[in-house]
Amino acid sequence: MSAILPPSDRLWWKQPLDRVEGTWILIAFIWCMIMFAMMVGWHIYGKQNLSTETYKTTRELFTAKTQAVVDKYTVRTETDKNIPVVRPPAGSDVYLISRLWDWWPILELEKDKTYRLHLTSMDYNHGFSLQPVNINIQVVPGYEHVVKVTPNQSGIFSIICNEYCGIGHANMVGRIYVK
Ligand code: CUA
Repeated sequence: MSAILPPSDRLWWKQPLDRVEGTWILIAFIWCMIMFAMMVGWHIYGKQNLSTETYKTTRELFTAKTQAVVDKYTVRTETDKNIPVVRPPAGSDVYLISRLWDWWPILELEKDKTYRLHLTSMDYNHGFSLQPVNINIQVVPGYEHVVKVTPNQSGIFSIICNEYCGIGHANMVGRIYVK
């Protein structure tokens, strides 16, 4: 018998279960149950699940809030698209818009200070992927995701879009400075 031919005994499922086979099924089942329970465990102890708050929003509402922060705290502009670099006060609410095909504005945060980062999309689904630390958040139009962030290392971080969003997807790169 080979793997690509049907078994010679067509009623193979009526054969008695081998002890080794039964043992493996039991081990696999127990392991599944452990992993299932750990989904709850990891959420509490694992630190890899972001606890985000999510609210309904509209483009107009979110744009207005973002624009207010940009108007108040822009320190310079960068890139050929003149994207404002915003340095909001420590502990404040910061806003980031994703759209075809950029992240707006650029943020400049202080190390070891906590901010509430608000995210939304103006058009389609985008993926917030903070590199190189690899933190990922789905950014969904119509929803405002709020994440508490405390940058614990200084440097320049890239935000890569990791949800395919059309022709400019590969160039949809944003930036966060941590000083
Ligand atoms: Cu935005 Cu891909």
